[in-house]
Amino acid sequence: MLIIGSGLAGLSFALKAAQSARVAVITKNELKETNTWYAQGGIAGVMDLNHDSFEKHIQDTLVAGAGLCDTNAVSKMVYKAPKLIQELVDYGVGFTRKGDQLDLGKEGGHSENRIVHAADATGREVENVLAKRVKNHPNIDVFEYFFAMELLTEHHLGKKVKYLPEIHCFGVYALNCKEGIVETFLAKKTVLATGGIGEVYAHTTNPSIATGDGIAMAYRAKAYIQHMEFVQFHPTTLQIPEADSYLITEALRGFGAILRNSSGHAFMKDYDKRGELAPRDIVARAIDDQLKKRGDKAVFLDASSLESSVLLEHFPNIAKECAKYGLDITKDYIPVVPAAHYLCGGIRVDEFGQSSIKHLYGIGETACTGVHGANRLASNSLLEALHYADTAVSHALKQFDNLDFETRIPDWNVEGTFNNKEWILVSHNREELQQVMWDYVGIVRSDMRLERALRRQTLLYNEVEEFYHRTSLTPELLELRNLISIAYLIIQAAMARKESCGLHYNVDYETYGRPSLSDI
Ligand code: FAD
Ligand code: SIN
Repeated sequence: MLIIGSGLAGLSFALKAAQSARVAVITKNELKETNTWYAQGGIAGVMDLNHDSFEKHIQDTLVAGAGLCDTNAVSKMVYKAPKLIQELVDYGVGFTRKGDQLDLGKEGGHSENRIVHAADATGREVENVLAKRVKNHPNIDVFEYFFAMELLTEHHLGKKVKYLPEIHCFGVYALNCKEGIVETFLAKKTVLATGGIGEVYAHTTNPSIATGDGIAMAYRAKAYIQHMEFVQFHPTTLQIPEADSYLITEALRGFGAILRNSSGHAFMKDYDKRGELAPRDIVARAIDDQLKKRGDKAVFLDASSLESSVLLEHFPNIAKECAKYGLDITKDYIPVVPAAHYLCGGIRVDEFGQSSIKHLYGIGETACTGVHGANRLASNSLLEALHYADTAVSHALKQFDNLDFETRIPDWNVEGTFNNKEWILVSHNREELQQVMWDYVGIVRSDMRLERALRRQTLLYNEVEEFYHRTSLTPELLELRNLISIAYLIIQAAMARKESCGLHYNVDYETYGRPSLSDI
């Protein structure tokens, strides 16, 4: 089995698959450089049936999803959460405890405390534990700094895939980044666990690896892609340029921190009666509205009325990061703004994580499973990664033994390419694309802005395709090409949706799905 990506989705799949098969994990950077590593708040799950219920978690997920969730998929994921979280505990993940129980935090859109966490650095703890197990596993080979470029299908056997009733995946071409050569990885089953797309925007909570490579590859191979218009903007990232959109976890608001504008007014209740704990799309839009109306650069998180020692115990990393910029979170207001955070759409998969291409699975943030609908509920992402890794492994292993390898795939052809001296174009084009997406395809959209974005995206596409076909490959160029495809998919999906719904808010259309704010 071939797994692309070493975040929670990829590593948990690898550990389970390796119990019965040989597994290769390809990852384009060092193993731990993933969105998973940066996760703060935690993993949602009903762990205390005396105070919570599966029905409530399902209901909260559906309400956040604004009418577009797949209820069956949500229900399966929610019921399996306690078992999946217990597996992480058994692997040795050190979640924060309160006495002999797991400590349960709260975040926006959750009606109960149900976020299992490791202080305010949950992802780091989970990734460290799983990465260590994967590296030491005798059935797993890890290929760091290998960049998966193209999915291998009948196209590479010289067939016109658009006329085929079924397309099959045979593995990938991957750039060995250290050697600069392209290698062929053949596999009976290929799993895309390549994470998110935050880098397509100028401001994002994501690390720079989040360039949507898996989605772009799957799109080129003619897989079905869905719900790309639903990009989640996290309401609160540190508004200090050197902090590079550092996330201030929603758990801080769950703990009692208040959002204030520059006059000190706590504005959230003016927008939604759930105040600071309304779903993320509502909070991000409220902040955007405050910034535009008032001409301010930031709003402020105020945690000063909370008990200092408890605050510092729960949020040690946020306290440390803020202290770097002279902010004491027990006293000072923390300046925050929204930034691109999460993609609800992606490669359309079924309940087993199967894409529309045979033997190709999509799991984690790269997949569109239907559990998030038009807006993801906080801390349901790590849970989704665990759930789909689990269900995809069982499915893939069932059919594994009788499958043959496809061996006729030709080597990558490097003829006609040369080492171009114009590399400045790559970084410049990336920045230009990010700014276009931020300005025209952000929290608030309009038909005119989307059309403008598409015109600019088309220009960049033409320039970069030409460059790509005559230039030797680098990870930077491959990422830029993928980002341009991701931008196209987001803009097209946003243009096609003639309504405002969940995370997709277009001022030219009515809101659909959830009651408007004034009805709540
Ligand atoms: P990732 O963890 O992003 O892993 C993707 C992997 O794919 C990486 O190893 C990457 O290098 C590799 N890759 C990508 N392209 C290629 C390629 N072409 N070739 C080879 N390898 C490739 N969610 C929650 O549920 N709770 C939280 O508290 C939470 N907090 C968050 C905080 C931050 C700051 C961020 C950024 C996200 C947070 N999220 C949270 C979202 C969550 O972390 C991610 O959605 C989740 O970790 C995605 O896991 P993944 O395994 O799908 O992808
Ligand atoms: C956060 O900690 O606020 C992020 C949680 C999430 O993305 O689910």
